[in-house]
Amino acid sequence: MTPMASRPAHTLTGVARVPGDKSISHRALLIGALSTEETVIEGLLEGEDVLRTAAAIRALGATAERSTDSVWRVRGRGLGGLVEPADILDMGNSGTAARLLMGILASHPLTAFLTGDASLNRRPMGRVRGPLEQFGAQLITRSADRMPLAIIGTADPVPVRYRLPVASAQVKSAVLLAGLNTPGVTTVIEQQPTRDHTERMLRHFGADVESVEADEGAWEISVAGQPELRGRPVQVPADISSAAFPMVAALIVPGSEVTLTDVGINPLRTGLVHTLREMGADIEMRNERTFAGEPVADLFVRAGRLAGVTVPASRAPSMIDEYPILAIAAAVAEGKTEMRGLAELRVKESDRLGAMARGLAACGVSIEEGDDSLTVHGCAGNVPGGGNIATDLDHRVAMAFLVLGLASDRAVVVDDADPIDTSFPGFIALMNRLGARIGPLTEVGS
Ligand code: S3P
Repeated sequence: MTPMASRPAHTLTGVARVPGDKSISHRALLIGALSTEETVIEGLLEGEDVLRTAAAIRALGATAERSTDSVWRVRGRGLGGLVEPADILDMGNSGTAARLLMGILASHPLTAFLTGDASLNRRPMGRVRGPLEQFGAQLITRSADRMPLAIIGTADPVPVRYRLPVASAQVKSAVLLAGLNTPGVTTVIEQQPTRDHTERMLRHFGADVESVEADEGAWEISVAGQPELRGRPVQVPADISSAAFPMVAALIVPGSEVTLTDVGINPLRTGLVHTLREMGADIEMRNERTFAGEPVADLFVRAGRLAGVTVPASRAPSMIDEYPILAIAAAVAEGKTEMRGLAELRVKESDRLGAMARGLAACGVSIEEGDDSLTVHGCAGNVPGGGNIATDLDHRVAMAFLVLGLASDRAVVVDDADPIDTSFPGFIALMNRLGARIGPLTEVGS
């Protein structure tokens, strides 16, 4: 446990590139492992979560080597060629790694055991168990379908047509990845569109993936089974979910001007930018281009006054990981911000809805917590601060409150900054280079 404190900052200025996109990094490694020939990945996120995926594909017989800083070379086994792992696969803190891998394993004839840290082992796995059993896989889980679990993949998978009961890119991806080594066409129907990195990455590697709009705004995504996947170069964009932290910091510290380069701006991930602009934020996208089928841009962010808004439930999938940092922007904004449709936040790395509500209250911000909603009454400037925040193994809760400290009258302390490495190694150094004052309690004072 490494406690960390954050104090009011003067201004944040400069140019920074946050680490690679976590979702895309997992997919590049996993799909690389299923391909023939070599996949060279540039800009891979070298955070704990992704390193777990790299370790898992090695345990399944692929090679994954770091050649230089953020450049990785993967040699896959070809679809269907994975070998049974000799030991338990430890997925650490990563729900994405665990669920996507379960999808792949479901249609490979081998048995694997998966575990994770205390946070991952309390998260729901029934949502992937259901569809994966339809392919013919067997799963043995703890009570309430939690990990550790065993998965026995099938040698004769049958294609599945599955309607997602929750808006989840992880479940959609698990089904599509199980469909890869299954003869015939596997289809997922999603009521609300979720991030489509799996679809884009599969197409990039040569698979036949179709997305068509169905009735009432639903989407049907189909993958033709048993394609020949060939290793491809992948350039990973900077993670918009990580960029969100310096972005909001620059908005709420008066006088700030920050540029964040190479940020992925996939339209299914930009709900936060949309919401912040509605609040009055000055965020420009410059130099738009494409990396491995994914749109990227440089984001130019300038501080300014923010006003509260109502964020509709329909926007949740496009900013699901950004509510903690949006709640921080809302705390500094003028007026009331109401966020709806947040039930999924209760089953992330921590109960993020509860964690944000408790943390904001501890920093003197007035909030109302509903079962699946959060209302924040903004302070129209600095918040009182002074809170001591329990991060509960949640990287985004830790980073969100360290950003709040920059716009607080009194320092904000998080009890443990270690989990930040799961998604954003170098967060504190990057923020301090821009002008933040984040450091151990003794150095920063209170
Ligand atoms: C992810 C999907 C989201 C998100 C997670 C990464 C992915 O989860 O919260 O951090 O890479 O597919 P759900 O799909 O479960 O909402």
